[in-house]
Amino acid sequence: MTAQEIRQLYLDYFKTKQHAIIPRALLVPQNDSSTLFTSSGMQPLIPYLLGEKHPFGNRLADSQTCLRAQDIPDVGDNRHTTFFEMLGNWSLGDYFKKDQLTWFFEFLTDKVGIDPQKLYVTCFIGNKTYDIPKDTESAEIWQKLFMTKNIVGKTVDIGSEENGGLKGMQNGRIFYYDDSKNWWCRAGGINAMPSGEPGGPDSEVFYEFDFIKHDSRFGKFCHPNCDCGRFMEIGNSVFMEYLRTEDNFIKLPNKNVDFGGGLERIAAASLNISDVFEISLLRPIIDELEKLSGLKYQSHQESMRVIADHLRAAVFLAADAVVPSNKTQGYVMRRLIRRAIRFAFDLGIEVGFLENVVSIIISLYIDDFPELKSQDKLIVDVLAREEKIFRQTLKKGLNQLNKLTGKLITGQDVFKLYDTYGFPTELSVEEVYRLDYQIEDDWQINFDKAMQLQRNRSRTAGKGVFKGGLGGNTEIHKKYHTATHLMYRALRQVLGDHVVQHGSNITEDRLRFDFSHPQKMTAEEITQVEDIVNKQINNDLVISFDEYPTKKAINELGALGAFGDRYGEIVKVYSMQDKNKGQLFSLEICGGPHVEHTAVLKEGNKKFKIIKEESSSAGIRRIKAVLI
Ligand code: ALA
Repeated sequence: MTAQEIRQLYLDYFKTKQHAIIPRALLVPQNDSSTLFTSSGMQPLIPYLLGEKHPFGNRLADSQTCLRAQDIPDVGDNRHTTFFEMLGNWSLGDYFKKDQLTWFFEFLTDKVGIDPQKLYVTCFIGNKTYDIPKDTESAEIWQKLFMTKNIVGKTVDIGSEENGGLKGMQNGRIFYYDDSKNWWCRAGGINAMPSGEPGGPDSEVFYEFDFIKHDSRFGKFCHPNCDCGRFMEIGNSVFMEYLRTEDNFIKLPNKNVDFGGGLERIAAASLNISDVFEISLLRPIIDELEKLSGLKYQSHQESMRVIADHLRAAVFLAADAVVPSNKTQGYVMRRLIRRAIRFAFDLGIEVGFLENVVSIIISLYIDDFPELKSQDKLIVDVLAREEKIFRQTLKKGLNQLNKLTGKLITGQDVFKLYDTYGFPTELSVEEVYRLDYQIEDDWQINFDKAMQLQRNRSRTAGKGVFKGGLGGNTEIHKKYHTATHLMYRALRQVLGDHVVQHGSNITEDRLRFDFSHPQKMTAEEITQVEDIVNKQINNDLVISFDEYPTKKAINELGALGAFGDRYGEIVKVYSMQDKNKGQLFSLEICGGPHVEHTAVLKEGNKKFKIIKEESSSAGIRRIKAVLI
């Protein structure tokens, strides 16, 4: 069955269950400025999940085009894409767990023909703090459903993802996880929910590629939520019945179902192929890239996957009236197109690239998305124009970057590449890593300064908005910068002195920090680091700086610096001290800016929390943390 057929089958199936099929929403959310893009099927339906009446009734289904710009760095493996279609069905206070789970199971096994032996499911283990019960009801429904296929549905408790790696499969079919995995709202787990946000426990279905051997880098044992690639999530039924309040949860007016399943992933599972780029909506794009480059997909998977994904996203962005620019959605679109061109450059694909690939993409969707039909010429024009602008300077920009060998790349350099050659900053940073160059810790701040200077010079009006990377000197940016220093010290206290900073990136939403450490941090280590940081925030350390000769700062004062001796002669050294106890907590070489004292980090009753700890490259871990 092709992906196109699966999409149609899904919509037809839910029509037989009295669902109204609603048109997809645009990729740019309307009347909702909380996100840049529609990133799940439920997003346009928020008012109805909160209790408003939907004009089409209380049973709805669709295939929603989604874009997750935050996944750009992950594209290149066998299953991540920025653009995807989410098959969705909703009950607005109508049917609930039994019908939902039964219908999805029936759709997968009886309609699509997926082998039920390859399916594993997860349910919510409950949360004591908020008195939200374990979802035994869903687990019992799953047991009966598996029984209809003569499969024993043994249930096992896992808890956290970390526990999964320690406990493994335990012959289970139904697995209970905590809110990090089996709770859904737009913000993540239970603790990340802002007041007013709807959410609830969920139940996910996983497909097992049993020919993929577990990779022990992801944990001692494999389990459905393991990231080694053996299991792939193909559908999520959210039982949306809760509303977050300031300090607790209340019930929503209705018990709703919010279901979302990745079309591309279901199609891959139906073929028992672990590479989503092999399905009927993506493989023809890869075929075209093989033709244009004369190279084989097998040996150029990453580049071809990136190009296929990014251009598919760009085509739908163009169809939804986004044009490449230096702001908001247009900036992401520009980044996607330029990144695709950059990868095509590596494959030696030069002329006629976009036009050929874009027309293949349009042909794959034109029958099911009529809006592409009337706009095909416009889409090609928008993308081709961007290609022309970028190609003119691509070679020069790369040459310029190559000239910087052996030098610490500065924010000023990144600005020059941006300003003169049109390199999106993230692309420059990627190139820097690819070339194994070093980039200064505070490149963003210096980039912003260079940008500001240039703005002042040219008296340009208007302010660019750069999602994901260019935070600027706002108060929240300073807070995350200070939190980064506290965390760096805490990591060294908990893990040891081998922890050395390898990179740092701050946005308005989070800090990201790369550091040397040979293995995954345990849950206890993460908690210890969080506790130390929160304690130092409470201690209200005073922050100040002085300038010192570099040698003195490093050798005599023992200041931490990410770039060894590659600083100028004089450096700024920031200290954070507990004035009451007269104790120095952190001393770092850094350009600033920071807040003046750490207690401001807890303004609004916030706490420091690590939301992700993962491998960045061999021997380097990456942490993302928030003040929440
Ligand atoms: N809204 C749910 C999700 O995106 C279905 O996973």
